[in-house]
Amino acid sequence: MLLLVTETSSELSRMFGIRKPRLVSSQPAPSPSPSSSPSSQTFGTRYPLRTDAVVWRGLPVLEGTNLVTSGRRYGGWVQTLKGVATLPTEFILPRIEVPYRAELPASMQAAEARHATDPAAADAIAAEQWGYYFYLGGGKSTLDRFPKAREINRASSSLRMQMINEVIEDVVGAEKSDMSVLDFACNWGGMAIDMAHRGFRSVTAFDFKEDNIRRAGMLNAYMGTDVQLDVANAYDLPAHYQEGFDVVLNLGLLYHVTDPVRLVQLTHALTRKVAVFDTLCHKEPFSGFITAYLNEDQIKRSGMGEQQIELHPTYRGLVDLIHFAGFRNLVEVAPIIGPKYPDREKEHYYVGHRRTIIAFK
Ligand SMILES: C[S@@+](CC[C@H](N)C(=O)[O-])C[C@H]1O[C@@H](n2cnc3c(N)ncnc32)[C@H](O)[C@@H]1O
Repeated sequence: MLLLVTETSSELSRMFGIRKPRLVSSQPAPSPSPSSSPSSQTFGTRYPLRTDAVVWRGLPVLEGTNLVTSGRRYGGWVQTLKGVATLPTEFILPRIEVPYRAELPASMQAAEARHATDPAAADAIAAEQWGYYFYLGGGKSTLDRFPKAREINRASSSLRMQMINEVIEDVVGAEKSDMSVLDFACNWGGMAIDMAHRGFRSVTAFDFKEDNIRRAGMLNAYMGTDVQLDVANAYDLPAHYQEGFDVVLNLGLLYHVTDPVRLVQLTHALTRKVAVFDTLCHKEPFSGFITAYLNEDQIKRSGMGEQQIELHPTYRGLVDLIHFAGFRNLVEVAPIIGPKYPDREKEHYYVGHRRTIIAFK
């Protein structure tokens, strides 16, 4: 019997080599069995050296030990397991649901007035290479050079501002005008600029790539916001950060680092009241991490980390890690994404491969 297996998550699919729906056998995979042809070599003087790999026979996608094909093997495992049972999206925390609204946040709508006074600045920003959407007014955006990505990114940037920034603004209420915000690894700076526009007292944001901070600086100046932007590595932050921040955003970073425990502990140390963790997550029901290997071209992109290897948390791993760092109360934010959302099946939040957790001290 054959089952149709559909993989829906684009970024994970690319990374782990699962591209299209395909047919797999619903029969359980055969048990691993070693080859019967041991080598005649020895290890040292005494130990016969077996060089036969133990693999799941009949499923070549699972074979081998090469790092470059590691993601493909993991993808093969996921497909094979899906032939037995589809992994559901688990919820083990209390959660709030945030319905997506197809409208730009007020921070982006404010760009219309900026464009009216300085259209040349909007053109200069639009000519840069961006990975994220921000509306610049006059019908222009940061992603005009990449029209295919523009609509999807427009929706996902708005969605994230609704489910992260708007929720935090609502939770802290009138106190916001007295609160400081830190945005870890801000890349484009859009989330920080949106927080500044919402009226938080001060917003600081950093990223370890100079070029990201340069572009974020252009957007910050254009939007007339006063975000303090620093070039810094998360593991080596400016000394004055140690005073802490009322709100800390740790978005899209956890799965790019190789020391996630320390990153979450650092976030805890810098948080005075509340932090938000937003990360890709795997669905396997164990608490841990899955390695992902990036090739040389992938690691050069503006959104990537320092190492060609990444540690992606499972959902349970993420929850355990945040508790371990010392956060006491966790609430998950789960968006409701209707059928009109562009390319909904590829939206990580929709398919449960990206999770957002608000963590209180
Ligand atoms: C996927 S992007 C997320 C951007 C933004 N936080 C968001 O969620 O929209 C990851 C960012 O992390 C930055 N980054 C990765 N490792 C870092 C580190 N050790 N210290 C500072 N920034 C880092 C990258 O330069 C990149 O801009």
